[in-house]
Amino acid sequence: MKVSGVDLESIAEEFGTPTYVIDFERVRENYTRLNEALECPHVIAYAYKANHEPELVRMLALMGSGATVPSAYGVMLARWAGVSPDKVVLVGPSPSRYDLEEALRYGALISLESESEASVLEKMGRARVMVRVNTGIEAGAHPSLVTGGKKSKFGLPPRRALMLLKSLRSTMDVEGIHTHIGSQILSIEPFKRAVELIMKLVRDFGEVKVIDMGGGLGIPYLNEEAFPLEEYSDIVCDAASQVGATLFVESGRYIVGDAGYLLTRVNYVKEVGEEKWLLIDAGMNDFLRPALYNAKHRIIAEGNGPKERYLVAGPVCESADVFGEYYLPRLKEGDLIAIGDVGAYGFSMASRYNLRPLPAVVSVDEGRYRLLRERESFGRAIF
Ligand SMILES: Cc1ncc(COP(=O)(O)O)c(C=O)c1O
Repeated sequence: MKVSGVDLESIAEEFGTPTYVIDFERVRENYTRLNEALECPHVIAYAYKANHEPELVRMLALMGSGATVPSAYGVMLARWAGVSPDKVVLVGPSPSRYDLEEALRYGALISLESESEASVLEKMGRARVMVRVNTGIEAGAHPSLVTGGKKSKFGLPPRRALMLLKSLRSTMDVEGIHTHIGSQILSIEPFKRAVELIMKLVRDFGEVKVIDMGGGLGIPYLNEEAFPLEEYSDIVCDAASQVGATLFVESGRYIVGDAGYLLTRVNYVKEVGEEKWLLIDAGMNDFLRPALYNAKHRIIAEGNGPKERYLVAGPVCESADVFGEYYLPRLKEGDLIAIGDVGAYGFSMASRYNLRPLPAVVSVDEGRYRLLRERESFGRAIF
């Protein structure tokens, strides 16, 4: 098993398992593909929540990326990475005073999600702001990945967003309109509808400097078609160019998703009735997507002979700690497997649940590997 010329077994031997591996070359390829497809003035404000590994965000910043951050610490990390304030977006449904203060102090663009958030910020000072629109479009690969619609806590419905934008003209530097319709979207239709709605708002409001279309660009996890990047780019760039605005795209998953691997070893193989359980040493605390979103990720395992059916599960005492049904070569205790496409919402969602230390993180780049984050141990973890 090799990634970017590096043998994953040697990483597992040196640093143990579970360990996240991030392929930096792949991240650069993904960023470059997106950057080159967007043929209009734009900022790729990479969504730090997808993977906030400091070395990774610094590499992206050096390539020209901006940052979309959900908190004060995100603003600090973006500043540390060298992202200039005009490329930093703070957005979230319920930022604390501290989050807002830090964003204001740095001069980041703040996307407001409610009138009450706006009045809190108004008391703090004059900020660069956008308003986040809930387009009502329900898109995303799982109900928990949908951010639009009547029952969503995100943003404001179009008319209210417009009223708020107008009311902020005298107290704030109103720079633009923002939306983020959901995550892991593979079809172009929801984006088309969102762009139409945003453009209508822009016309009703008047001039804007920024149109921020959020993230949401999906990746194929199993056998899905790749995201229609060129079509997307045509649509969003046409819209922004029509009104002379800079386009912001807050991609996270598209840039880092397929660059991550979770190395894990087989702890036990257990047969119960018809089922053969492959019990591995990575669990839902290390990688939450299967339990949270019912996500299925490819598993890479070496071995010859016919494939066998396994139910793959982790060590956490929760019935939801199951990765799913897989056909894999015959495996035994101690064998290494890699869970693929875990670069986005992998380590960044990991927890210490079940008194399990956070896993190690290693980068691979042009045939070399490097430890980015040590595995926690009893003394180092915050138990
Ligand atoms: C406001 C906002 N922007 C961007 C993103 C990144 O989304 P994705 O990783 O799907 O591109 C998210 C993720 O949920 C988000 O909430």
